[in-house]
Amino acid sequence: MMPSDAPPPLPEDLFAAARQARTNAYAPYSRFKVGAAVRTADGRLFAGANMENAAYPQGQCAEANALGAMVSAVGGQRIIEVAVVGGREDDPQDLCTPCGGCRQRLREFGTETLLIHICGPDGRRHTTTLGVLLPLSFGPDNLDIV
Ligand code: THU
Repeated sequence: MMPSDAPPPLPEDLFAAARQARTNAYAPYSRFKVGAAVRTADGRLFAGANMENAAYPQGQCAEANALGAMVSAVGGQRIIEVAVVGGREDDPQDLCTPCGGCRQRLREFGTETLLIHICGPDGRRHTTTLGVLLPLSFGPDNLDIV
């Protein structure tokens, strides 16, 4: 039997989509490539990579682009799982956790149970939830949008 504190499985399709997107990251300034993939409640996958800009604040995170791909293709959907692939190549412990802005972006489409798999290019480094990363969050339900 699995111990009760074993992390939930990291689905290969979600990880592969995020890792593939990362190969297309446009990060000439930071050289920090990130890929992200989200899974909708009805089972569809959407991925994105980070996209930097010479005017630095205009850069966009991988998670934001994955959500943009979802909305562009199928509209706003409930998401249940996210994989983020990033972190220093030479440090298998390094975590690329979603930035503060992306935690809020994920909150728009997910609840506190949203699973977040934080991965390096070789696989999972940590799994957590949006409720842990963004406690006491403000979301669509605060504005009576269900
Ligand atoms: N970045 C992401 O794409 N996602 C994260 O979760 C954290 C940071 C990007 C933004 C920028 O292009 C680079 O990583 C360095 O901050």
